[in-house]
Amino acid sequence: MNLKSVYETIETLKAEIQTVSTKEDLEQFRLKYLVRKGIVQQMFEGLKTAAPEERPLLGKALNELRQTAQRLFDEKKSQLEQVQTASKGGIDLTIPGRRRPIGTKHPITQALDDMTDIFKAMGFAVALGPEIEDDFHNFEALNFPPDHPARDMQDTFFLDETALLRTHTSPVQIRVMMNQKPPIRHIMPGRVYRNEAISARSYCMFHQLEGLAVDENITFAELKGTLATFAKKFFGSNVRYVFRPSFFPFTEPSAEMDISCFLCNGKGCRVCKQSGWLEILGCGMVDPNVFKAVGYDPEEVTGYAFGMGIDRTALLLYGIDDIRMLYENDTRLLNQFT
Ligand code: PHE
Repeated sequence: MNLKSVYETIETLKAEIQTVSTKEDLEQFRLKYLVRKGIVQQMFEGLKTAAPEERPLLGKALNELRQTAQRLFDEKKSQLEQVQTASKGGIDLTIPGRRRPIGTKHPITQALDDMTDIFKAMGFAVALGPEIEDDFHNFEALNFPPDHPARDMQDTFFLDETALLRTHTSPVQIRVMMNQKPPIRHIMPGRVYRNEAISARSYCMFHQLEGLAVDENITFAELKGTLATFAKKFFGSNVRYVFRPSFFPFTEPSAEMDISCFLCNGKGCRVCKQSGWLEILGCGMVDPNVFKAVGYDPEEVTGYAFGMGIDRTALLLYGIDDIRMLYENDTRLLNQFT
């Protein structure tokens, strides 16, 4: 036993206490170093046989050894007790974390997102507009005649003399055209409102996705190509489609697009009323009067527009048979869309 071995033992102690993680380990440490027959006391015995001139330094080192051993033991002991009280006080650090349920996208949002992705890939940007509109944007600029039935209280929710809830997303066309110059290639998703009797098939609020492209030399062929591409991507590559002539005040010529019923594949079923076809959207070439209302020269630019309802399509796609279920926020329905 010499000075060097005492200091080496101190280092060993410090390393060994690091490996103590249970009360049992700690007891082993105590038995090894701190009891009467333990290493520390044994080394003190060696002091008796040491040369007298070495004793003062050696004694000092041995005291340091004893104090260090005791201090390391006490520190570890209180550390282990703290962990124990924490778990006694209801905090069990070994319990796995609580799982939080993850929300899901509403089926309408899901359908709108999927549609938006398809149009984005074809170069369309997204534009949004307000749900509270005025007569100018919702009707007048869109070439609705003054006596059009949609301007009646029967069909439209008026908030006061000038404000109304938009009845379609087409007013966003007007806002986009008044805010920027062509070329324009935008889609405009959003909620619309109509004063209709609520039933399994119709609701006073629903969703539309509007589209607008304006530039020099835009043709009806481009409109058909865009919508056919959309239909194949969204409803499946074997879908068939047909354009029927129709009428809207803000497009000329106008058409409606039907697709082969994706439930019966065109054979005829209850949903498509045995016709084999489902009507999915209205479209047409932007009427020159609309261009004039937003300050565009109809001799310089042409354009097409389309608008489709989301809710009824989503009902068919997901096999939901009452439109009201979409707006009740019943988690039993929503949980089926994870
Ligand atoms: N706004 C029309 C509707 O609500 C749909 C439409 C949009 C038709 C754009 C033609 C062009 O029925």
